[in-house]
Amino acid sequence: MSIPHDAPGVPSSRPALTLKTLRRMASSGEPFACLTCYDATTARWLEAAGIHVLLVGDTAAEVVLGFPSTVHMPLDVAIALTAGVKRGAPNSVVMGDMPFMSYQADDAEALRNAGRFVTEGLADVVKLEADASFAPLVEKMARAGVPVCAHVGSKPQSVGLTGGYASAGRTADAAERVIEDAVTLERAGAVMLLVEAVPEEVTRGILERTSVPLIGIGAGPAPHGQILVLQDLIGMTHWQPGFAQPIAQIGPEIQRAVEGWIERVKDRTSTDHRYLMKRGESAKLKSPASE
Ligand code: KIV
Repeated sequence: MSIPHDAPGVPSSRPALTLKTLRRMASSGEPFACLTCYDATTARWLEAAGIHVLLVGDTAAEVVLGFPSTVHMPLDVAIALTAGVKRGAPNSVVMGDMPFMSYQADDAEALRNAGRFVTEGLADVVKLEADASFAPLVEKMARAGVPVCAHVGSKPQSVGLTGGYASAGRTADAAERVIEDAVTLERAGAVMLLVEAVPEEVTRGILERTSVPLIGIGAGPAPHGQILVLQDLIGMTHWQPGFAQPIAQIGPEIQRAVEGWIERVKDRTSTDHRYLMKRGESAKLKSPASE
């Protein structure tokens, strides 16, 4: 017997959001909300709450797989998780995050991997951490029909170079470079931009010089959309960056629930549910003692 643990396929009550919806919201000044998500069950709740964009981030390497940084995210796992999130939230825009070394080494391989996010991963858009030097790749992806979100500013996949997660664009030169990256990548065909951990001057510069929807994380309140790692927002991580203020404390809530479960198991009160034998069958049962 298969026991459903949730209700896959429950029709969502809202019409499907698309990149077009996000463009319309951005141009009419209506902010859209984005969160990371890594599984179908959670995706269902987030869609029920009205989320617009779900990013299956390479932060899954840390949050789901327990690695110390995002560079450890396996490509096949990222694609499988992306598909799970889309199945859970079919009416949200789902963004697959291309892991470290799935697009940097070779453009042909990058194109094939981006294609897998769309076909196997059911992604509506793929995100890659990029500077202006990735413009030719973004152009090829756009030509192939892959919608790309270019992630500029602080780029966690470069943690090995920077020596730790860092902000970006804090000098005039550095700020200009981040803005230039965004402009160049939009020109190359990126349908969306994401900027991480930059001063508001950088965000404003990008907004003034580009026209696609801009998602911000630690980039001030001005971007069209805002994103956080879900587990930071709902208080499941033990440390959050300064821009991620928890809105709930689900971690301690889980701990309390599990402590309650352990108590119930100890007391043998774990459940009131009983499976009953069919009528008359119990009497036919040979008791273990009679054998
Ligand atoms: O992987 C991720 O979760 C991200 C967000 C932090 C933007 O890239």
